[in-house]
Amino acid sequence: MIPMTLNTIAQVVGARLYDVRDPEALVTAPSAVDSREVVPGGLFAATAGARVDGHDYAAGAVASGAVAVLASRPVGVPALVVEDVQLALGLLARHLLEHIGPTVIGLTGSVGKTTTKDLLAQVLERHAPTVATDRSFNNELGLPLTVLRADATTRYLVLEMGAGRKGDLTYLTGLAPPRIGLVLNVGTAHVERMGSGPADVAEAKGELVEALPADGFALLNADDPYVLGMAGRTKARTLLYGRSPEALVRAEDVRMDDRARTAFELVTPSGRAPVRLDLIGEHQVSNALAAAAVATALGLDAAEIADGLTAARRRSSGRLEIVARPDGVTVVNDAYNASPESMRAGLRAVKALAGTRRTVAVLGAMGQQADASRARHAEVGRLVADLRFDVLIAVGAGDPLAMAEAAESADQGVAVHVVEDVPGALRLATALVRPGDVVFVKASSEIGLGACARALAGA
Ligand SMILES: Nc1ncnc2c1ncn2[C@@H]1O[C@H](COP(=O)(O)OP(=O)(O)OP(=O)(O)O)[C@@H](O)[C@H]1O
Ligand SMILES: [Mg+2]
Repeated sequence: MIPMTLNTIAQVVGARLYDVRDPEALVTAPSAVDSREVVPGGLFAATAGARVDGHDYAAGAVASGAVAVLASRPVGVPALVVEDVQLALGLLARHLLEHIGPTVIGLTGSVGKTTTKDLLAQVLERHAPTVATDRSFNNELGLPLTVLRADATTRYLVLEMGAGRKGDLTYLTGLAPPRIGLVLNVGTAHVERMGSGPADVAEAKGELVEALPADGFALLNADDPYVLGMAGRTKARTLLYGRSPEALVRAEDVRMDDRARTAFELVTPSGRAPVRLDLIGEHQVSNALAAAAVATALGLDAAEIADGLTAARRRSSGRLEIVARPDGVTVVNDAYNASPESMRAGLRAVKALAGTRRTVAVLGAMGQQADASRARHAEVGRLVADLRFDVLIAVGAGDPLAMAEAAESADQGVAVHVVEDVPGALRLATALVRPGDVVFVKASSEIGLGACARALAGA
């Protein structure tokens, strides 16, 4: 945040001041929408969520050090009152960006946004001051919050952008116009909300490249035909990355060590350099190449990028997070979220990590699967069997049953169990797991299997 007075902020967002003793008081710190995350010197934005109304937490936020509350009604403590708090945050973010002018990098895709954003931030911050999205703060609230963490020294602003619906990316890129746009993939995640199929998803995600200027760069995944198809929708220069030989930024000689971490030769127009990733699973090569493509567009050479990728560590929890228990059990917590793509990637990564060790999969439903939901869950069940997992614990009624049935009928020797809920999963997994096992825990976030993973890990 660059320091701004309440008066100036009020002008920028069209607010009226209530209960403010000193309109010249300076806001110097980032903003928060969760009163528990208020930083002294920042603003607290009171938004109404599904369960709680931020206005109820206004006084607490000010007690924690917020200079004022951005609110839609007076709240009895210093407030900037506007009609639409979300829009006001966006306007403030845009104003800040116009003043500090960092290079804005927007990235979107169906899976791997947070993982790639974390890799990219770790490559860029070795080079120049970088601010990147925290956690998965990728929507109309999270994006302004990220921008408001930037200051006059920020050179690169890495923004994860979610596209749940058509128009989302047009809105987000309107708030923070990117010069660099990265599209990772078009999968089946969020299909239900988006429309009927991948073409609709591609339509929505392509809004990112449509927003790029002619002197910008669109970084496109050459291995995903829907992403490749976006090349014609941008004025910007396009640069392809991926495993395909025609990609300008690509990986050669990809291999995996006995801990499921990949190493490869990074090839960019500036040369080649060896990369050794710390993250598990072959799918990380694509994420790493995506980050490398952005860094290439920003002028970093292959060696600098490779060193950054090699030094990078997992930053966000619940994505293939590995916990080694003292009794030799390894818990892989991938319960942050689930889609067919990430289920496949996770199951394969865990099997590669396990080698000959016994493997237990504790899997719940993948949300947002539209009409083909049962079939998609059955495919996961078949893969569990084909990869020769030893045990499957399917969690919940409905779609997880399809997973269990498919694993059972594949007849590959997997011991299949069905439990009703998360506590049931924890009880059964605790009983079945033996020293030396690798346990994989995954479902969509709303299932809440993260609690099971953490308990199994002993946290
Ligand atoms: N390239 C990839 N292909 C398949 N699965 C992936 C890939 N990258 C990450 N994943 C897996 O997808 C899940 C979500 O990862 P991540 O949080 O990085 O994605 P995201 O796009 O930010 O998700 P969200 O839309 O929920 O913010 C994790 O289980 C992760 O391991
Ligand atoms: Mg994310």
